[in-house]
Amino acid sequence: MIRLILVGLLALSLYAQEYVKSSVCKGCHPTIYAEYYDSAHRKASIYEDELHKAVWDKHPDKEKKQYTCAKCHTPTDTKLMEALENNEEAMPQKSEVQTQEAVSCAYCHKIQDIEEHTNSNKNIMSLKEKLFFSADEKNRDIKKKEYKDKESYMGMVKEKTGSPFHTINYSNKNFYTGKMCMGCHSHLKNDNDVDVCRIDKDAAKDEETSCISCHMPKVKGTATSIKLTKKHTYHGFASTSKNNSMLAKYVKVKSKKTKEGFRVSIKNEASHNLFLHPMRLAKLEVKVLRENGAVFTKTEHFARVLGKDNKPTLPWLADSVIHNSMIKANERRVLNYDFTVKDDDVIEVIFGYYRVNPKMVDVFKVNPKKYGQFHIMKKERFIIE
Ligand code: HEC
Ligand code: HEC
Ligand code: HEC
Ligand code: HEC
Ligand code: HEC
Repeated sequence: MIRLILVGLLALSLYAQEYVKSSVCKGCHPTIYAEYYDSAHRKASIYEDELHKAVWDKHPDKEKKQYTCAKCHTPTDTKLMEALENNEEAMPQKSEVQTQEAVSCAYCHKIQDIEEHTNSNKNIMSLKEKLFFSADEKNRDIKKKEYKDKESYMGMVKEKTGSPFHTINYSNKNFYTGKMCMGCHSHLKNDNDVDVCRIDKDAAKDEETSCISCHMPKVKGTATSIKLTKKHTYHGFASTSKNNSMLAKYVKVKSKKTKEGFRVSIKNEASHNLFLHPMRLAKLEVKVLRENGAVFTKTEHFARVLGKDNKPTLPWLADSVIHNSMIKANERRVLNYDFTVKDDDVIEVIFGYYRVNPKMVDVFKVNPKKYGQFHIMKKERFIIE
């Protein structure tokens, strides 16, 4: 009997776990909080992301009253997550957790491990409420750093270490390799076994160059207002539409004269295919400029298009990938142009992307100014000599 009750309690506590609110972290981590507040992770719910809402509104799970997106878009909403697990009606309700905590500080810092599954992975959460994982090479073997307020002889020298609010565990390898991102970012399959998106497992095993080092580089400003540091980990999550300068260096563009004309190459140094979401469309615009302007122009598109019977469809209806010209992980894409260039010609290369393929902007009726716009990632000029 006692055993039964215990098991029951345990099962309950797995779901009843509430996450400490991000606004609490703000008190001691104001810079990180400000970056996070403006990031896709804070804004991942239908209330803060117009595009996510537009897609959800068309999604068949809405009819079924099953907000299956919660798993990755608002996992902090524990009530909703519990309803989903129990196959009850599970629809998002506008609330603080949906608008302020979609993928929250405490949620991310409590991801203990990733369980691999066919349709999408699962985050295994630590159950210790105020123990957060973090990475620090020098403290790697510390599993529980506690707050210490040392005062030396007669209180002359004060030395504080640790956090007065929480303990820290530096020993989780997943916070060094970026594997902790892979519960949500690894892959999502639709009901026809087609990858809606995928990042290869191997993309999150290197510690030198990881999801974290590229998307969350160290930037100026203190990590906490209690213990001052020169730098902190950027929490705005760099992408082309946000802080592109952090990422542009991982995509290298070159151009040179060839026998037949000239060539342009794009080297993707990211550990994943360049653009991951099936709504994205990449564009390369190449021009040859001579005294009076452009004498040659060519535009190319790269995309991964999902479809059915060889026609593009909405991602959940697709039974195959009908076209894939997206630049792959670590690929160097070379494009040859048979246009004869002369000395002093300038080759202008513009590379970037549309967040939403312009063909889909109307389908989803999202704000064309916000989503149909071309974001430039690279603009470079090469002089022929
Ligand atoms: C397995 C995790 C997972 C699930 C489940 C999931 N998503 Fe996502 N979704 C992501 C990730 C990760 C991104 C960011 C990917 C990127 O930018 O390439 C994303 C991005 C998006 C975007 C693009 C947002 C933007 O502003 O550019 C849309 C739209 C979207 N998801 C819709 C949905 C809908 C609708 C559902 C539920 C029916 C859903 N997703 C379920 C992980 C998931
Ligand atoms: C999407 C996941 C994610 C979210 C959301 C997130 N973090 Fe982090 N955070 C990380 C990762 C990954 C690192 C880098 C590895 C490490 O040091 O833990 C990190 C690093 C940190 C650090 C380390 C100190 C430093 O060098 O900057 C602090 C402090 C921190 N986060 C606090 C926060 C706070 C506060 C929030 C909310 C405002 C937050 N995090 C939201 C993933 C996240
Ligand atoms: C009362 C102040 C306070 C609050 C509230 C607080 N922290 Fe901290 N936190 C600190 C201090 C101080 C440190 C630095 C400890 C050290 O390095 O010795 C720290 C360090 C961290 C680190 C590890 C940084 C490292 O050394 O790599 C993470 C991660 C972190 N906090 C996350 C959070 C999250 C998430 C929240 C909210 C749920 C939060 N903190 C709330 C004071 C606080
Ligand atoms: C709990 C799930 C979850 C985790 C963990 C997570 N993400 Fe995300 N991430 C998302 C979702 C969902 C989106 C898309 C939100 C939207 O736009 O609606 C996203 C968006 C992004 C974007 C796109 C930002 C943009 O403006 O287009 C980047 C970059 C990103 N995540 C990087 C990371 C990195 C790096 C980590 C690990 C440190 C990580 N994420 C961990 C769920 C997650
Ligand atoms: C070597 C640097 C590098 C590494 C490592 C890296 N990325 Fe990226 N990531 C990029 C670049 C460059 C882009 C493309 C520019 C963009 O979309 O903004 C990008 C784009 C993204 C996007 C947005 C894609 C879209 O379609 O909007 C997400 C989400 C993302 N990365 C997540 C991750 C995750 C998760 C990992 C770890 C498994 C990771 N990245 C590892 C450099 C890197």
